[in-house]
Amino acid sequence: MTKPDYPIRTERLTLRPFTPDDHADLHAYQSRPDVVRFLYGEARTPEETTDNLKLKVSVTWPEKEGEHVALAVVHEGRVIGETVLKYLSEAHRQGEIGYIFHPDHHGRGFATEASRAMLELGFVNLGLHRIVASCDANNDRSWQVMERLGMRREAHFRHNEIFKGAWGEELVYAILEDEWRAANHR
Ligand SMILES: CC(C)(COP(=O)(O)OP(=O)(O)OC[C@H]1O[C@@H](n2cnc3c(N)ncnc32)[C@H](O)[C@@H]1OP(=O)(O)O)[C@@H](O)C(=O)NCCC(=O)NCCS
Repeated sequence: MTKPDYPIRTERLTLRPFTPDDHADLHAYQSRPDVVRFLYGEARTPEETTDNLKLKVSVTWPEKEGEHVALAVVHEGRVIGETVLKYLSEAHRQGEIGYIFHPDHHGRGFATEASRAMLELGFVNLGLHRIVASCDANNDRSWQVMERLGMRREAHFRHNEIFKGAWGEELVYAILEDEWRAANHR
C-alpha cells in the first residue's frame, strides 16, 4: 500500500482531500434533491454538510479495511464533485468506487475521468484485486459511468432493499486488476 501524493492531476481535473474551506461548493450539490435522488439520505442542511465535511477532511486515505476516502474533484478552481474509494477487504483485496457531481458539471465526462484515477489508486496504491461499483438500476447516468470505465455488470438484484419507501433494484459492476492492467497498458 502506497499513500498517493496529492494533488492527483488528470487531463482536466485535480483530485485532492477535502478541506474545511470547501463547505460552499460541497453544500451546493449536497443540498440538491436531484443529486440525492438515488443516494442514501436526503438533501443536506448547511449544518449536515458541516458534519459531513468534517468526516471527509478527517480521512485522506483508507488505511485499513472498512475505511473510505472521498476526494474533492476540482475544475477551474471550484469543487465540482467528489469521487470515493472504499477499502472493503484486506484479505480479499476488494474495494469499491463511487462518485457524486454537481449537475452543472454533468455531461462532460468528468465523473468518468475522475473515476479512472480512483481505479488506479485502488489497483496500484491500495493493491486491490477487484473493484466494484453499485447503483440503483434506475440511475442510468451512474451505470453508464461504470460501463465507460470498462466495468462488467455482474448482478441485478431485484427488490433487495426498501429504498426511499419502495422496493429497490440494485446493479453491481466490477473490474479485476488484470482486466484493468490490460485495458490501460499497465
Ligand atoms: C452519476 C453521475 C456522476 C454521472 O454524471 P455524468 O455527467 O452523466 O457522467 P460523466 O461525467 O461520465 O459524463 C458522461 C457524459 O458526458 C459526455 N461526455 C462529454 N465529453 C466526454 C468525455 N471527454 N469523456 C466521456 N464522456 C464525455 C458523455 O457522452 C456523456 O453524456 P450522455 O450521458 O449525454 O451520453 C451524475 O449523474 C451524478 O452526480 N448523479 C447524482 C449522484 C449519484 O447518483 N451518484 C451515483 C451514485 S451510485
